[in-house]
Amino acid sequence: MHTMARALLTEIEAFLAETGLTPTKFGLAAVNDGHLIANLRRGNSVTLKTADRVRAFMRSSAPGARAGVPAAPGKEAAGPRGPGPALMPASATANLSRGAELDKRIALIIGGGIAAYKCLDLIRRLRERRVGVRAIMTRAAQAFITPLSVGALSGDHVFTDLFDLDEEREIGHIRLAREADLIVVAPATADLLAKMAGGHADDLASCVLLATDKPVLVAPAMNPRMWLNAATRRNVALLEADGVFFVGPAVGEMAEAGEAGPGRLAEVPELLAAIVDRLGQPTPAPPAPADLPGTHRSAAGLLAGRHVVVTSGPTHEPIDPVRYIANRSSGKQGTAIAAQARALGARVTLVSGPSQLAAPAGVDLVTVETAQEMLAAVTDALPCDIAIFAAAVADWRVARTSSEKIKKGAQSTPRLELVENPDILKTIARAPPGRRPPLVIGFAAETAHVVEYAKKKRKAKGADWILANDVSPKTGIMGGDRNSVHLVTAEDVEAWPDLPKAEVARRLVARAAQWLADHTAVT
Ligand SMILES: Cc1cc2nc3c(=O)[nH]c(=O)nc-3n(C[C@H](O)[C@H](O)[C@H](O)COP(=O)(O)O)c2cc1C
Repeated sequence: MHTMARALLTEIEAFLAETGLTPTKFGLAAVNDGHLIANLRRGNSVTLKTADRVRAFMRSSAPGARAGVPAAPGKEAAGPRGPGPALMPASATANLSRGAELDKRIALIIGGGIAAYKCLDLIRRLRERRVGVRAIMTRAAQAFITPLSVGALSGDHVFTDLFDLDEEREIGHIRLAREADLIVVAPATADLLAKMAGGHADDLASCVLLATDKPVLVAPAMNPRMWLNAATRRNVALLEADGVFFVGPAVGEMAEAGEAGPGRLAEVPELLAAIVDRLGQPTPAPPAPADLPGTHRSAAGLLAGRHVVVTSGPTHEPIDPVRYIANRSSGKQGTAIAAQARALGARVTLVSGPSQLAAPAGVDLVTVETAQEMLAAVTDALPCDIAIFAAAVADWRVARTSSEKIKKGAQSTPRLELVENPDILKTIARAPPGRRPPLVIGFAAETAHVVEYAKKKRKAKGADWILANDVSPKTGIMGGDRNSVHLVTAEDVEAWPDLPKAEVARRLVARAAQWLADHTAVT
């Protein structure tokens, strides 16, 4: 008997036990076939279409989700499970009316990593939120967890083989790629990232990834050295430039004893939040014909021959040899911008304040601590075609830093006198012609009157564009993975939707590259 039919029969038996429906009534109600269960028990197969109909029937008729389906004798129409959590943060589900529940489906591609076991919990939690999961496992993934456990939790057939005649006849890899609302790759192995970046299609997972027209969210998990390897850095930058969304990896202990660093699969609540969040967002429009490679200059290579300078991260302003004034900037936005510029072919100089993040592959990294050092490094890096100032530069520094650690009790509580730091954005934007980059872009982090202040800042500093964001604590932007910005130019103010920082970077760099192509020639 085919594993799909066996899995379906297991689910049906559990449903019958729970509802008390007879096999005949069940078959008639589900697919108008009173012999369905008898045939399955005899070992006969069913088509995927029938299996889908049966599962849809069970979903809509489950105790608590039942509407218009006869309850089995002695059973309540709305069982103790109630409507169950929907595709919403668990905290929000209490207010949901049944009609407001969302039903979405993801294709979950499970790669062959040690973290594959976490997918089992992820699937369970997704289903609790009424997200359908159709799993695709790579050959390597099956060495870590079995299709049987994945299928038992997803309640669906698990797809493993590109050349399985039954699977291909029933659904086909193209439909598999298109029927989901979102493709999730978790854990995404170094190998899968490489295949995606290279456009390979030699197994079911990579075929689906290449054939899909849906958003793709990947959750990488691998040894830190694999993650930091130049090849993986390159692949990640390419995928980000292609619009693939990332969640994680987290930094921490690895399964291998004594290994730590970036590479842990994001924890299940984080994966869940990223998936639910992505499912709640509109699907990006497919590229316009003019954007398709072959009909227009493709984005890749749009910055070839150009030099882009990006600042990133916080600055640390010393008080004494051990203490400093800092801010909460993580450097994620600036690093993502540098990665995008590199992915479009630019020579990139990333001038970064102290940050935990690794520099993207192929980017020239200059590390600095203070605002004064940052200005000097940026000035040294000129000339450039685009300068993007994403660093959170301290406005002030301590007037007189102590060369020795200030001792507690040796004097009265010290008073810090502050002096203003150089304004890097203004200095570069107002540089003399020939020194001034053709396109100067600043960031304005504000906690109130965001657009109004950004407009003033753009004029006062002489910048071409300002990306204004609200960094008040409620937004979670400082240190977080998302950003919500307004693009302020001389002509216009554009409100961009709330986006992952990688997507903000992709849009900004693509826009800047196009501006440069339209206004200047490569020298
Ligand atoms: C015990 C063990 C653990 C592994 N863990 C990972 C991992 O966490 N991440 C990764 O990228 N590769 C890992 N690998 C290597 C992959 O399994 C290997 O590259 C495989 O070809 C990936 O296949 P896939 O990308 O088709 O799933 C591991 C291998 C072994 C033997």
